[in-house]
Amino acid sequence: MGGHIPRDFIDQLLGRIDIVDVVNSRVPLKKAGREYTACCPFHNEKTPSFTVSPTKQFFHCFGCGAHGSAISFLMEYDHLDYVEAIEELARTLGVEVPREQQRGGNKPRQPLDDSLYSLMEKTSHYFRQQLGKSVVAVDYIKQRGLSQDIVQQFGIGYAPDEWDALTRLFGRDYDRQKLLACGLQIANDNGRVYDRFRDRLMFPIRDRRGRVIGFGGRVLGEGTPKYLNSPETEIFHKGSELYGLFEARQQTRKLARLLVVEGYMDVVALAQFDVTYAVATLGTATTREHIQQLFRLVPEVVFCFDGDRAGKEAAWRALEVALPELRDDREIRFLFLPSGEDPDTQIRNIGKQAFETSVQQDALPLSDYLLENLKQQFNISSREGRARLTARAGSLLGNMPDILLKEQLITELARLAGVDRAVIRHRQNRQTQSQPAEMPPWIREQNSPRVRRITDQEVRMTPVRYAIALLLNYPDLSPYSENPEQLIHYALPGVNLLCKLVETAEEHPHIHSAGLMERFRGTEHEKILLKLMKWQPQEADMQILQQEFQDCFRQIKRQARQKALESLLHKEQTQGLDLQEKHDLLSLLDDIHGASE
Ligand code: CTP
Ligand code: MN
Repeated sequence: MGGHIPRDFIDQLLGRIDIVDVVNSRVPLKKAGREYTACCPFHNEKTPSFTVSPTKQFFHCFGCGAHGSAISFLMEYDHLDYVEAIEELARTLGVEVPREQQRGGNKPRQPLDDSLYSLMEKTSHYFRQQLGKSVVAVDYIKQRGLSQDIVQQFGIGYAPDEWDALTRLFGRDYDRQKLLACGLQIANDNGRVYDRFRDRLMFPIRDRRGRVIGFGGRVLGEGTPKYLNSPETEIFHKGSELYGLFEARQQTRKLARLLVVEGYMDVVALAQFDVTYAVATLGTATTREHIQQLFRLVPEVVFCFDGDRAGKEAAWRALEVALPELRDDREIRFLFLPSGEDPDTQIRNIGKQAFETSVQQDALPLSDYLLENLKQQFNISSREGRARLTARAGSLLGNMPDILLKEQLITELARLAGVDRAVIRHRQNRQTQSQPAEMPPWIREQNSPRVRRITDQEVRMTPVRYAIALLLNYPDLSPYSENPEQLIHYALPGVNLLCKLVETAEEHPHIHSAGLMERFRGTEHEKILLKLMKWQPQEADMQILQQEFQDCFRQIKRQARQKALESLLHKEQTQGLDLQEKHDLLSLLDDIHGASE
């Protein structure tokens, strides 16, 4: 324990270790040109798309998008937190991790960690403690047949029947706004604040890294609403999270299949019976993002729904959103349980083995389910019915990529509708593709799959961003940048960040991409930097890159002048200019005029 790990130590550590060794000792790598490759350990694949770059000290998977430094790799692969990953790296070098001295004789008060994550974690801990103290809650757990172990593993807790338990738990030192912001408390019209969850069994919802980001709370017994969920917050997005995914990945490093069920209780009960690969959506319909996440991890997804009407409707919705995500090596199936049963009751009835057998044998392939459903929807004995079937089939197929399964479906549907395959094919009304972002020439011209993936990223290219991308990939370019003191005056988005990067790269002449990225871990800039890191030129000559880089600064300058000019002209028309501003305007006009000659 102790203070922070000094920044310099992390820099040195990253300078001394080699990410190739770190990865290779866990996932054997093969050399391929300047890089190393392997089948990605973070999703299932047959041909390698996972690469490790010794020069950048960065790994990147072109299949699932996983990427990062040696620290990130250990965090993901060994399920470590940031500090643990650093300790692990230090251990391989045989060095101690130093801690910054805490100043003064009497220890200064620890700064309050009131990030939303930390509030959620503390609350979750508190709910777990309360579970043991409540007779009603313990009784309910017993009545539902949940074991001690499983309650522990899923971190299930109990929110006491009080309006201000969290107010008292967190005391005065905490920022009230934060408790509201993470959805744990609610303010009424009079500004009075109270706890959202009261007298409920609490299921913590964890993100991929195991951080608690939300809760689902169930009433003990009867009552409405049966489940109360955390609202959407800064850290909790229902459309992209799956309950139980973290726990499933903890159990099995390389999952082969995931089972999507409807409820928290289903996930937990299945896990208790050793079916440890079930996840649930958070009381919402399945989204395309869910499907994408699932297929990043496994090639096979089985949706398990109740056999009743609501279950069938949910299944059909899932099918519709899944169509665009289908690939030749991806499989989706649907398992319908006997009416009145859900996975929780079913596995208790028939046990693990019979349950898994039924997943193997009874789950319908997506194509069977699709055809079955269309046959039921339309009366194919009439001409009108067949015409409507053709139209409906067209719009479904239009959302599917060109894969083998689609060809087979076209054949089947043509047969059902009694039309030629060409008719079905012709009826496909494709969704309009979104416009790709504007890209610099070397990206636009290349058409490798890598580059196409890059254009998927929805970040618009600007000269500032392009300069950042180049610098991230080639920190050695920093001497060719515009002077940061000058640069900072240009009021363009991202200029601040660009300056920070230039300064960092100049202060540390041998820093590599991963080292540069590490300095921004956990900051507001991390996300955009990771996106820009992926805009990597393929095989560019260093001289060309230098020119490109310098050209960015010319463009930045031009944009900044243009912007300044516009705002001065606007001011002139609305408020008039003072002497200094008039002077600025004239010299700007001169500059722009001079530059265009
Ligand atoms: N759900 C919800 N809000 C409700 C009811 C349900 O968010 N008012 C969500 C929850 O995520 C729940 C899932 O829908 O887990 C499935 O609901 P349901 O089938 O009613 O509950 P079960 O999971 O079967 O829970 P239990 O066995 O405790 O009744
Ligand atoms: Mn249930």
